[in-house]
Amino acid sequence: MSPGATRPGPGPGDPGPTRPIGVFDSGLGGLTVLRSIIDLLPDEPLLYFGDTGRFPYGPKPHDEVRRYALEIADLLVARDAKLLVVACNSATAVALDVLRDRLAIPVLGVIEPGLTAAARATRTGRVGVIGTVGTIASGAYQRAADALAGPIDLTCAACPGFVEFVESGDVHSDQVHVLAERLLAPVRAAEVDTLVLGCTHYPLLARTIGDVMGPDVVLISSADETAFSVRALVEAHGLAAPAGAPTRHGFVTSGDTATFRALGTRFLGPEVDAVEAWSWT
Ligand code: DGL
Repeated sequence: MSPGATRPGPGPGDPGPTRPIGVFDSGLGGLTVLRSIIDLLPDEPLLYFGDTGRFPYGPKPHDEVRRYALEIADLLVARDAKLLVVACNSATAVALDVLRDRLAIPVLGVIEPGLTAAARATRTGRVGVIGTVGTIASGAYQRAADALAGPIDLTCAACPGFVEFVESGDVHSDQVHVLAERLLAPVRAAEVDTLVLGCTHYPLLARTIGDVMGPDVVLISSADETAFSVRALVEAHGLAAPAGAPTRHGFVTSGDTATFRALGTRFLGPEVDAVEAWSWT
């Protein structure tokens, strides 16, 4: 199948605003961002790619994740995406700059929006960030924090294993809780008052993470902030979809379509109906 084989919205030659917003992640996590975009911008057609066949991205070498991000971006652009949302911290951390350099459409990541929200929320200035091994090792959050106007004291912790639990549909078990107790120990010890969920899969574990961190710690998901940034970008570029037009979303996965549909419906909602299979070979 060629990258341009099907598309959820109108075809080439249609005016920009009616084209879909492309959104991708290594799997289901980016659906947390998609939910926020749908809620804020109900008229926008969205095309989601979940690279479930190649997840997790977190433990993989940065070059490999960068290559995956470029491949997916090419696919979404070939299907007329008018804007690209990298709904994956691991890919944002290592590929955002190269995607912006190479693509002719606006590209948005999830790191800066989430950290900006945390900087607004914190009272003590002590902010935690949890993410995949790749995201934390990249130093991308520390660089983004250094670029902020006010100083914040950042404590970062990698949480290997969280993504695998989410992709298996297990978000509440005792095993997840035990793992969370262990992995969140550094941010608890740092007495952060705000915790950035620096992986788009983690909002699906918010109940467990919230239980472990306690009620006084504010959990920040980048999803809502990213949706606000998407709205600002489509408006700034004159790409906002016309109000009231029928909206259809597309879902493509490189993994098992039935699993994606079942878990996607559970995590996102009824919008996940037909799921198209994609093969990289
Ligand atoms: N959801 C992604 C992120 O935000 C990727 C997780 C993974 O595949 O390791 O980092």
